[in-house]
Amino acid sequence: MKKMLELAKKTFQNGGLVIFPTETVYGLGGDATNDIALKKIFKLKKRPRNNPLICHFKNIKEVKKNCKIKTLDEKLINLFWPGPLTLILEKKKTSSISPLVSNSMNFIGCRIPNNKTAKSLLNLLNFPIAAPSANIATKISSTHPLHLLKYFKKKVFILDGGRSKLGLESTVIKTFNKHIKILRLGSISIEEIKSKLPNVKIIISNNKSIISPGNQKKHYAPNLPIRINVKKMNKNESLLNFGKNNLKSNICEYNLSTSGNLKEASKNFFYYLHLLDNTKCSKIAVAPIPNYGLGKTINDKLKRASYNKNN
Ligand code: TXA
Ligand code: MG
Repeated sequence: MKKMLELAKKTFQNGGLVIFPTETVYGLGGDATNDIALKKIFKLKKRPRNNPLICHFKNIKEVKKNCKIKTLDEKLINLFWPGPLTLILEKKKTSSISPLVSNSMNFIGCRIPNNKTAKSLLNLLNFPIAAPSANIATKISSTHPLHLLKYFKKKVFILDGGRSKLGLESTVIKTFNKHIKILRLGSISIEEIKSKLPNVKIIISNNKSIISPGNQKKHYAPNLPIRINVKKMNKNESLLNFGKNNLKSNICEYNLSTSGNLKEASKNFFYYLHLLDNTKCSKIAVAPIPNYGLGKTINDKLKRASYNKNN
């Protein structure tokens, strides 16, 4: 791995891109201070330039060098970093992070990942890594190197970190004086934040006041059509099941968690969607997922995955 990390470092320093593992999903990374690298990310991912990228930092000191941290940010940082929390922080005038990262906005999405390879990589570099999830815009996120082959093999250097531990992206949060706003549901559930900060008001951003442009209506979409909250199977459908029930597919099926464990379901979610997307069937049917804890995040993604503008 040491050799691979050195190679990744050189690639970054030359303005190249590296796909690297994090505890949530794989990231398509480039030097956050290098416009050439950043332009490559947007192009390769087919991502609109107005959808900002998350910056990955090695430690809090580096974040503080680039961004201002308020009281509520500090509280969240103490609770969740390193980990699956992205904080939208005000950029300092002295920061060398490129305006391309955040569509010239003064606020940057920042996170410190909790993954051994990502940490080792960041420690070798003297700049933060800007990285969206390593997938083509609106498609399913990648939680295993196998998911990267179709679009990125031979185009980008890939650091193999095995299967992602959490399997859902980071929770994106912006803090205000007296409340916090969740811009994207992710690996940290609303319930977990509430239990750790019982006195702080939490607002969930709705799609009408989009601050996180990545929160589009259609997102995380497999190539096959998807039908959610399914109680009865149709012919030719594969099945993404959850818990114990009578649903059965005669083509192919996976169960996110037979015991109904939402953490296990989160880890399996994109992984199984990728598998089902590669089976010969007309549609992917998805069993109802309880709408609390991480189930809320999964349902949010399922809703976007099944979004059809004709509906
Ligand atoms: O877990 C994750 O967050 C993964 C790993 C690789 O870190 N990254 C990821 O990045 O999911 P991406 O680009 O697929 O999603 C980032 C989300 C988008 O919805 C984007 O709009 C939002 O974060 N975001 C990033 N910077 C922002 C900013 N400055 N203001 C508002 N929203 C921002
Ligand atoms: Mg993404």
